[in-house]
Amino acid sequence: MPRPEKHVFVCMQNRPAGHPRPSCGQNNCAEVAEEFFWQLQQSQDFARIQVSTSGCLGPCSEGPSVLVYPEGVMYGGVSKSDVAEIFSQHLQNGKPVERLVVSEEYW
Ligand code: FES
Repeated sequence: MPRPEKHVFVCMQNRPAGHPRPSCGQNNCAEVAEEFFWQLQQSQDFARIQVSTSGCLGPCSEGPSVLVYPEGVMYGGVSKSDVAEIFSQHLQNGKPVERLVVSEEYW
């Protein structure tokens, strides 16, 4: 498999109720991941873009968290309705969606 130009990691971490740290699992990260996979399927852009699920990426309080490499851009508070914009604007056209980028305070 060739190295992708963009590799997206979607946090799928869950934590038990009452855990002191929040988790992306409590904030519908599964539907965010499903939407990324759907967008990739629709685009058929498999040679350039790869989507993977991951464990905790770090900024749990800002989740659902999505990390894009090679730039190392971390998105927070991503909802299903944001995914098409990230996919087309950033993954396909190289321009991060600034309104969703996590502040340096968190990551
Ligand atoms: S649980 Fe998703 S970033 Fe930590």
